[in-house]
Amino acid sequence: MSSRQVRDVVFVDGVRTPFGKAKGMYSETRADDMVVKVIRELMRRNDAIPPERVDDVAVAATTQTGDQGLTIGRAASVLAGLPKSVPGYAIDRMCAGAMTAVTTTAAAIAFGAYDIAIAGGVEHMGRHPMGEGVDPNPRFLADKIVDPSALVMGNTAENLHDMLPQLTKERADAYALASQQKNAKAYANGQIQPDLVPVATRSVEGGWGLATVDEPPRPGTTMEGLATLKTPFRPHGNITPGNAAGLNDGATGCILASEETADELGLQKKMRLVSFAFAGVEPEVMGYGPVPSTKKALEKAGMTIDDIGLFEINEAFAVQVLSFLDYYGIDDDDPRVNLYGGAIAMGHPLASSGVRLMIQLARQFAEHPEVRYGITTMCVGMGMGGTVIWENTNWTGDEK
Ligand SMILES: CC(C)(COP(=O)(O)OP(=O)(O)OC[C@H]1O[C@@H](n2cnc3c(N)ncnc32)[C@H](O)[C@@H]1OP(=O)(O)O)[C@@H](O)C(=O)NCCC(=O)NCCS
Repeated sequence: MSSRQVRDVVFVDGVRTPFGKAKGMYSETRADDMVVKVIRELMRRNDAIPPERVDDVAVAATTQTGDQGLTIGRAASVLAGLPKSVPGYAIDRMCAGAMTAVTTTAAAIAFGAYDIAIAGGVEHMGRHPMGEGVDPNPRFLADKIVDPSALVMGNTAENLHDMLPQLTKERADAYALASQQKNAKAYANGQIQPDLVPVATRSVEGGWGLATVDEPPRPGTTMEGLATLKTPFRPHGNITPGNAAGLNDGATGCILASEETADELGLQKKMRLVSFAFAGVEPEVMGYGPVPSTKKALEKAGMTIDDIGLFEINEAFAVQVLSFLDYYGIDDDDPRVNLYGGAIAMGHPLASSGVRLMIQLARQFAEHPEVRYGITTMCVGMGMGGTVIWENTNWTGDEK
């Protein structure tokens, strides 16, 4: 066998459904049909790809039963009309499901096993509430392997406020307000819409409809309004529905290819993969996960945080983003961070969110050719973080 060479991997394109509120506009829409929309739109937008050249379809979901079951990458690609010769499978790393679908298929491309892959995620939290069907081993608690708060994500965020008391509720609320404001501005500028695929909706009361924009944003949010919200996870706590991501429905997907295949077929090359890493922390402070995963990804790439010009950080909770920013010495309102707002405004359909971050980073790279590197990072249940570092293919070579 000839000696093997690692190949560069590029992010060709990404799209997502508009995100809905659980029990909202997608109440009667199946999760697998949302993935079908994403796959069909990816193939429509990138019609230079012969469908039979797709080597695998990896789709993540946290709850893999019902319309998110049947190894959803395969089920959705057959439903989407990809040739039946194209395989597919399901992936789970909870909130970092789609991110893991990307890193896993990208690794296979770099290794030479695949030329082109589709990677994404879906979560219909209305149909599959968080924790549905789970059966945690009693030894977790009986043997004190993890703290009881570790299994409720809102409690882990309260724990972060305890661990880092400089991260006050006021700072969290101010961060949440800014997320809503940045998101409203991005919508007004038309920066979100180009990567959304419209989805037909229906409801007994409302009849047929078409979802074209995210349902969760609250552009009218104020600091005064946020200050009055209840703290559902702890009496007199810090986490509220205003400074946390909500319960949402949505699907995302992207096309990855080896750079040589992209060149061969004349595909777009929006970003180039630099490195990635996942890391674990104590499960009761799971929101801290992006700190070590980013450290690891930077080390592997021989880079420092100062090399990063754009950050897409999933906002599971404001405090969790702030813990990352504080660690790396970045201001709460640093203009490099979440330019279009984040999950606090747009929503966080768990396993789908990782690719939303990438879609947005790719668009920001095009808007900012002076930036060379960016990261997508997110925290993960059971105490993990994931980070992917990307290079801007539009980089003009001037500065960071
Ligand atoms: C925090 C949480 C419990 C809130 O759930 P909820 O009560 O269904 O949330 P709602 O959207 O109905 O909001 C509750 C109230 O806050 C209000 N509210 C929410 N955001 C607001 C804002 N930005 N400004 C003003 N009011 C707001 C709503 O209007 C609602 O008011 P009402 O009760 O008078 O109708 C839920 O969103 C949650 O669990 N989030 C975390 C999800 C998670 O853990 N994800 C995984 C991360 S690892």
